Amino acid sequence: LDDPAADPFEVAAQAAEDIARITGVARHDIALTLGSGWGKAAELVGETTATFPATEVTGFSAPALAGHVGTLRSVVTPRGRHVLVIGARTHFYEGHGVRRVVHSVRTAAATGARTMVLTNGAGGIKHTWTPGQPVLISDHINLTGASPLEGATFIDLTDLYSMRLRDLARTIDPSLDEGVYCQFRGPQYETPAEVQMAKSFGGHIVGMSTALEAIAARQAGMEVLGFSLITNMAAGIQTTPLSHHEVIEAGREAEPVISSLLARAIGAM
Ligand code: 6GU
Repeated sequence: LDDPAADPFEVAAQAAEDIARITGVARHDIALTLGSGWGKAAELVGETTATFPATEVTGFSAPALAGHVGTLRSVVTPRGRHVLVIGARTHFYEGHGVRRVVHSVRTAAATGARTMVLTNGAGGIKHTWTPGQPVLISDHINLTGASPLEGATFIDLTDLYSMRLRDLARTIDPSLDEGVYCQFRGPQYETPAEVQMAKSFGGHIVGMSTALEAIAARQAGMEVLGFSLITNMAAGIQTTPLSHHEVIEAGREAEPVISSLLARAIGAM
């Protein structure tokens, strides 16, 4: 993937072959990327039929951060859907390029998945939200300055975060609120002024993932569902300093509730 002459879709096709060989599952139906706080969902979605390190699959890099486990799983839901659970996210701030960031999404598409569920832990801007609360992503603003699309690939992003799937999630939890996710490059958290900018742009959630992955998923023709766990309020909205520890802690506390929500939403697909 670091070779500009390599075709990232061929690398993804090779990765999908690796996954089919390791799992014995010829086609996956749904892919789920686990962000911080969402990890427990993997066990609740269904029966795990294979668990393996992402590094066994072509193109996946070793995890960069504690709390981001580099594991892939194949899980089968009670309805018989095969779910590829991706616990190995490469963040744009790691600096390895957008191809690595979206490789898991392209691989998921190559395994046959038509639905991409993206989850993350993020900062909240809406004053009505409290840390520990899950929200649906209704749309995004990509502030990374990057794109997974190479060359003149003009794709439409209307209804990128599928209304149909958001409605399905609300049948599980009617109280789910939604908001516009702003992907910043990170890894520093935003300044209060940047949070005000995001707010004035129409943003409600700030984070460091998801938007680039969602674009790649749409390019691959997948239907996208996005969830953010509000782990803390964004800088300036909360007056206390932000810490990575706080983000991980909030994720740990919310994990049982939000994972069950996520598993039930996927179970209904
Ligand atoms: Cl406040 N900002 C960003 N970019 N990512 C976060 C966050 C804030 N809180 C958790 N993740």
